[in-house]
Amino acid sequence: MYPSGTLRIDELTPEERTVYATLKPERLPEHIAIIMDGNGRWAGHRSLKRFLGHQQGAKSVQLVTETASRIGLPWLTLYAFSLENNLRRPRPEVNFLMRLLRSYLESNLQRMMDNNVRIRYIGRIHELPSEVQDKMSWAEEATARNTGTTLTLALNYGGRSEMVDAFRALSAELKQKNLSPDHITEEDIHRHLYTAHMPDPDLLIRTSGEMRISNYLLWQIAYTEIFVTERLWPDFRGIHLLEAIADFQRRERRYGGLGEASGAVDEEADRLKIVAR
Ligand code: FPP
Repeated sequence: MYPSGTLRIDELTPEERTVYATLKPERLPEHIAIIMDGNGRWAGHRSLKRFLGHQQGAKSVQLVTETASRIGLPWLTLYAFSLENNLRRPRPEVNFLMRLLRSYLESNLQRMMDNNVRIRYIGRIHELPSEVQDKMSWAEEATARNTGTTLTLALNYGGRSEMVDAFRALSAELKQKNLSPDHITEEDIHRHLYTAHMPDPDLLIRTSGEMRISNYLLWQIAYTEIFVTERLWPDFRGIHLLEAIADFQRRERRYGGLGEASGAVDEEADRLKIVAR
């Protein structure tokens, strides 16, 4: 359950409140990550340019973030721009996404403040254009003291390059401390990831129906529940976030163990032992 001071359920829409009422407060996820996919297809279905799909996608980012903040979700991490997008998309589209990010941050800052949202970033940020980095730092600093949802935008992000960066930092640390690689633990790797300050995602949502991870949070999603929806990102709203949480709550998380059914399995094992004796 989230700290009650962070809840603003009265600000949910009536439809959202109906879904929220079905949720178990003691089993709310702490961290939701989203692969926002389908902007281009959304535009294509309407014979619009891809840019307009991204623009509509930015609206979904804001609306979903606000619903997350109203239910007190501590961590929301959105895949906004991958390293592969940066390398493989046509330059005009990349430039448009960079301009969109700047204008998004500028025009939504007040709403972030009103919703007590803190903005942070993960990825190879230093490779983004300097005017984009400036706007990003401005929004991060302005929201740094907010205590509600932390919205993390993954920008120029790739899961494998995150691991490369982590291993480089870790090997430099080992060298400096004169330690052998035999000492490396999972915790050491975690400490050097971009996400060292946050818990691993409980739930990963992917829109537009593709069954792929697309190099997102590869280390962190080891035990994350995955929810794929056919809905395209520009059509995704707060109510769909709540529906995904409802689906998540129907799952049994086992972390490699036997879960709630283990009692029955143990009994069966005992019975078989008795028969074998
Ligand atoms: C996938 O759609 C989405 C992206 C490449 C980037 C996500 C960007 C946004 C949601 C908008 C801007 C975000 C912020 C934070 C301002 P796609 O183009 O791959 O869609 P397609 O698979 O249908 O072509």
